[in-house]
Amino acid sequence: MPNTRTRLIAGNWKMNNDLDQAYELATELVKAIPEVPAGVEVCVCPPTVDLRVVSCRGGIKESPIKLGAQNVYWEESGAYTGETSVAMLKSVPVEYCIIGHSERRDYFKETDEDENKKAKALIAGGIVPIFCCGESLETREAGEHVSFVTSQIKAGLAGIELSSADQLVIAYEPIWAIGTGKTATADDAQEVCGAIRATLVELFGEEIASGIRVLYGGSAKPENIAGFLEKEDVDGALVGGASLKADSFAAMVEKAGE
Ligand code: PGA
Repeated sequence: MPNTRTRLIAGNWKMNNDLDQAYELATELVKAIPEVPAGVEVCVCPPTVDLRVVSCRGGIKESPIKLGAQNVYWEESGAYTGETSVAMLKSVPVEYCIIGHSERRDYFKETDEDENKKAKALIAGGIVPIFCCGESLETREAGEHVSFVTSQIKAGLAGIELSSADQLVIAYEPIWAIGTGKTATADDAQEVCGAIRATLVELFGEEIASGIRVLYGGSAKPENIAGFLEKEDVDGALVGGASLKADSFAAMVEKAGE
């Protein structure tokens, strides 16, 4: 049974596209997605250096597509070379920010505690975290995927209070399915997304948890998105590779509206 939460299709461009390429993709997206279907929200997350050109010259600001970032630092300002604060993102303006992605956790050694600080800073600053979680192949094969992911959620969101469900988005991305072409089945996604929602109920109570969007990510594309969206606890997708082409991203947005 599909649910009634507003679906979110979020594009994670990762470390792709220089300024000219980002401008070009943004203008193509604005043309390809002139309207967002009812019950759907769309957001693109370019590299930090591209945010402004995508927003302004690329036309995203004037379009129904929202803007997200891929990273943030939790301190307000100061001597943190290379980092970007919540206020800086807010001034672009950015509405969403991906945190806790497995690439940040693996390559940059970010911890649950780091993600917790980022989540708190974003929520306090009025930017919605897209909080990523997901297990390795090894953890899944050991049958520990549900407990692993729910412990990431509990640690990453510890001490956070929400006044409404739209202050937070979760993205379940099994690491073995990211960029590999290997997708989880819709039932695999539902198993973990359902467990995530149960954990959100423990943390935030039934009323708020029932409205928090939980996305699936990992080789999501136009051909497989519909199967995920049919599931009770899957409310959209965090899309990597397929978000780099305007036509495939637009096709996914269209499917989310069906
Ligand atoms: P992918 O990436 O769609 O290319 O698998 C998803 C992600 O890492 O957010």
